[in-house]
Amino acid sequence: MNARRHKAAVFLAVIAALAIGSSAPSTAGSGYDKHVARRIALMTSQKAALDELTGMMAGRSTFDQDRARAARRLLVKSTKSIRKHFKKPRLDPRSNARPLIWHSWKDFENRAEMAQAAAKSLNARSLPGLRRTLPSLMQSCLGCHETYRNTPNTFITH
Ligand code: HEC
Repeated sequence: MNARRHKAAVFLAVIAALAIGSSAPSTAGSGYDKHVARRIALMTSQKAALDELTGMMAGRSTFDQDRARAARRLLVKSTKSIRKHFKKPRLDPRSNARPLIWHSWKDFENRAEMAQAAAKSLNARSLPGLRRTLPSLMQSCLGCHETYRNTPNTFITH
């Protein structure tokens, strides 16, 4: 991919992430469900925020309080809206969600709440704080995926 196309792709990904919760029209006749697209965009945006934090935790990037706080804020917000994004049973060809979600809805909700609690407990004030608090959030991402997501790539969460 050349630089220009790459930029365009990044731009589109950002737009997709921002479109969450708005009423962007679905592509007619594509067989793809716009709600599925939104929940995937939600998950992708949380992965980006988590990557930012794990990068700092692992020393791949320098700890930066402002960026860590911004990532924490995004994660608190996004985990809060997991429930809403999955409430109605919807699947499409690109989805890896297991129908079990809607048979075990209470448990799914609980896991979403646990993820939110873990995101709220993130300590973004210092590197040691981050190191202490990030694993439990990562665990809640992985735990939910293990049960409710078919994993094309086991290491996708981090
Ligand atoms: C309550 C359950 C739950 C929690 C908690 C959860 N996820 Fe997910 N996640 C899912 C499900 C279900 C899918 C599959 C959605 C689909 O394909 O329709 C998914 C998909 C994804 C994907 C793949 C998106 C794609 O491109 O197909 C990523 C990345 C992801 N989640 C990241 C995260 C991260 C990071 C966290 C923690 C901050 C997290 N998830 C927490 C349930 C959860």
